[in-house]
Amino acid sequence: MQYKSQAVAKPYFIAAIGLFVGQILFGLIMGLQYVVGDFLFPELPFNVARMVHTNLLIVWLLFGFMGAAYYIIPEESETELFSPKLALILFWIFLAAGVLTILGYLLVPYATLAAMTGNNILPTMGREFLEQPLITKLGIVVVTLAFLFNLTMTMLKGRKTSISLVLMLGLWGLAIFFLFSFYDPANLVLDKFYWWWVVHMWVEGVWELILGALLSFVLIKVTGVDREVIEKWLYVIIAMTLITGIIGTGHHYYWIGTPAYWQWWGSIFSAMEPIPFFMMTVFAFNMVNRRRRDHPNKVATLWALGTGVMAFLGAGVWGFLHTLAPINYYTHGTQITAAHGHMAFYGAYVMVVLTMISYAMPLLRGRIANSNKSQVTEMWGFWLMTVAMVFITLFLTAAGILQVYLQRVSDTPLPFMVVQQKIALFYWLREAAGVMFFVGLVTYLASFFVKGEAKAVTA
Ligand code: HEM
Ligand code: HEM
Ligand SMILES: [Fe+2]
Repeated sequence: MQYKSQAVAKPYFIAAIGLFVGQILFGLIMGLQYVVGDFLFPELPFNVARMVHTNLLIVWLLFGFMGAAYYIIPEESETELFSPKLALILFWIFLAAGVLTILGYLLVPYATLAAMTGNNILPTMGREFLEQPLITKLGIVVVTLAFLFNLTMTMLKGRKTSISLVLMLGLWGLAIFFLFSFYDPANLVLDKFYWWWVVHMWVEGVWELILGALLSFVLIKVTGVDREVIEKWLYVIIAMTLITGIIGTGHHYYWIGTPAYWQWWGSIFSAMEPIPFFMMTVFAFNMVNRRRRDHPNKVATLWALGTGVMAFLGAGVWGFLHTLAPINYYTHGTQITAAHGHMAFYGAYVMVVLTMISYAMPLLRGRIANSNKSQVTEMWGFWLMTVAMVFITLFLTAAGILQVYLQRVSDTPLPFMVVQQKIALFYWLREAAGVMFFVGLVTYLASFFVKGEAKAVTA
């Protein structure tokens, strides 16, 4: 760690991992509810568990991005953080708001929560991923603005690098597109249209800039390859992201009542969205092959390579599978979508945050890398979680193919619930893979407590 103030990243990373554990527990509960319908009913209905699972995912990834930014920006700018105190205050506000919101979901019926939190003043609730009460949404805006202020001020007083510029662009974009969550028109077509300006513009737009910047930062550190080389890759990747991803939003406009030309625009541009993801994979492997030093943190390099591969598979390949309008006509809103959602979120955003934590956390704890024993344990966590996610994706894909055929393609289409019964086997298998994921997560957690001789700071 080169600057004292980078230490504020640590609580952010710890909170991220803690909420990650919660997310997975709710995933397992829901996976069981899929096959044992009344499990925990009426105490924890499926819709509530789902909201908790997805909201925890988003919130812990945001904690991860913030921690990463607090770590990276001072180092890139070669100056202390503008205000470490503000960063710590924001941490506690964000954590309290997040925990209170989740408790609200769990303890109060959703409609009551909406009534209690001013949804009648400005209705924003009730949409997937954006279920947060109005006050939480306002809290997110305040925290994010103060966070961006802190980092922008840091950057302005120091060195400006491509990585910090791209990272800040991504984070500002994240904040700006979130503002569309406050726009909730009564017209359902308009509502869906702008809902995607948050959801799609995040994961296939501005978050990809954050992804590129984090990956580049870690690759510079672990490979020692010249910054100029890495920056060229980064620029081409983010250019391709924006060229394909912005108009690519059209792949969500096929069937919601928007004009038919979206079927062409959406299909053509989103079909090119895998390109930047593919480039990221080639980039990561290329840089590691051309490395000019052997960094003792082997497991951080493994996470970086894994991010490239899994993001390409989950977003690029599984995204492409159902992105063309004539195919999406059959697959829309099925288990194919869920298969893709899981692998893409894991491969791109979960893994890049874990890459950053893997690189930075040892430094935040006063050593360049963890002991071999600890790294090997973390590698076990990596493989167990990653292979489990591959299985979850494959089982959901199998369920999805059967679902599409039985429910929508065959000459004698069956009703939704009848089909769900017929494909239950795959839901059991998904749950088993989920348990494996959880074992991997526990192994990952254990790696933080494995001792052994740590690598010295000066190595
Ligand atoms: C890391 C990047 C990505 C993430 C995290 C991600 C995640 C998701 C999620 C969670 C959904 C479900 C949304 C809902 O609730 O309806 C979704 C839908 C979709 N994604 Fe992605 N995605 C990514 C990249 C891509 C890419 C690159 C493509 C195309 C090549 C793509 C194509 C699609 C399509 C077509 C749908 C709509 C599925 C339907 O009609 O039901 N995604 N994505
Ligand atoms: C880091 C790992 C995980 C990530 C990134 C993740 C992400 C997601 C996302 C994005 C959705 C919304 C999907 C959509 O709208 O298409 C979702 C829903 C869901 N997840 Fe996960 N999840 C993870 C782990 C798990 C695990 C381990 C399980 C259980 C075995 C699980 C079970 C579910 C279930 C049952 C749903 C609801 C699907 C539905 O509404 O039909 N998830 N998850
Ligand atoms: Fe999309």
